[in-house]
Amino acid sequence: MPILKVESLRKNYGTLTAVDGISFDVQSGECFGLLGPNGAGKTSTIRMLYGYTPRDSGLLEVFGLDIDKGLREIKRRIGICQQEDSLDPDLSVRDNLIGYARYFAIPKPEAERRADELLGFFALQNRAKDKIMVLSGGLKRRLMLARALVNQPELLILDEPTTGLDPQSRQLLWEKLAELKKQGLTILLTTHYMEEAERLCDRLVIVDHGRILVEGKPAALVQERVGHSVLEIADPDQPLRDFLAREKCRVEDLGSRLLVYLDHGDELFLKLTREVRAEGCMLRPAGLEDLFLNLTGRELRE
Ligand SMILES: Nc1ncnc2c1ncn2[C@@H]1O[C@H](COP(=O)(O)OP(=O)(O)O)[C@@H](O)[C@H]1O
Ligand SMILES: [Mg+2]
Repeated sequence: MPILKVESLRKNYGTLTAVDGISFDVQSGECFGLLGPNGAGKTSTIRMLYGYTPRDSGLLEVFGLDIDKGLREIKRRIGICQQEDSLDPDLSVRDNLIGYARYFAIPKPEAERRADELLGFFALQNRAKDKIMVLSGGLKRRLMLARALVNQPELLILDEPTTGLDPQSRQLLWEKLAELKKQGLTILLTTHYMEEAERLCDRLVIVDHGRILVEGKPAALVQERVGHSVLEIADPDQPLRDFLAREKCRVEDLGSRLLVYLDHGDELFLKLTREVRAEGCMLRPAGLEDLFLNLTGRELRE
């Protein structure tokens, strides 16, 4: 039985269709990624999973419970880390955790014990008495994540956990999430950072305009849909374009830059650098970002 089952989920805001028939499931112990550009419908999807936003149609089951009948129990067993800061500015770091535990009717001594354990886990001990106002973005995120774990959830839902963070904070959060995953926690996260998805997600979907474009394991998706490696060429001239045409390469023309998608190793790259030119040519492994851009396009979003 999957921990989470989503079938034909839909959400309209007036005439705008934000979620347009999304289906996926999340298995126990897995980290599942919901990837998509800004405005793709990630947050709208996630909010329906814990009853924050009512859905227009579709089936939702969490822990095998229908959301319409079992929402109270579902809420008790999931942890949510929302995209925007929702910490209580009047309370200290530690009291934010203890206060949140009250929603779950966790007795005070147990709440204090869990708060201290979570402060330790997220390296927040020496900020325990600080007010929220003085915390950096990275510290606030860590506290939000700690708070989402206060009720010892079976499913952790994270909406863009590292957007806007500095590299150090992001790395630390990734390590902590990897540790939680190792402990067996099931995680659903949204992101538009491909590195985050590649590092953490066992499986993922890429969504845009409220629809799923692909689903699969990150490495397999890249191998199947992009290839083995990408040759980037700066300032391409005609002899170079002729060479690529003769070799029947898969080329994406960005004007001042060409991307050549290669299915195998580096023979073509060697041939090109020997016979045409080496300058401005860079060979790199294909990645999730290539797939993401191929599917969702290169134009800027919101
Ligand atoms: N409460 C709302 N009212 C009207 N439109 C909304 C609301 N929330 C989101 N939208 C719109 O729905 C679309 C999907 O938004 P969202 O789910 O937040 O996307 P994402 O999280 O992928 O960036 C966007 O076009 C957004 O502007
Ligand atoms: Mg969002």
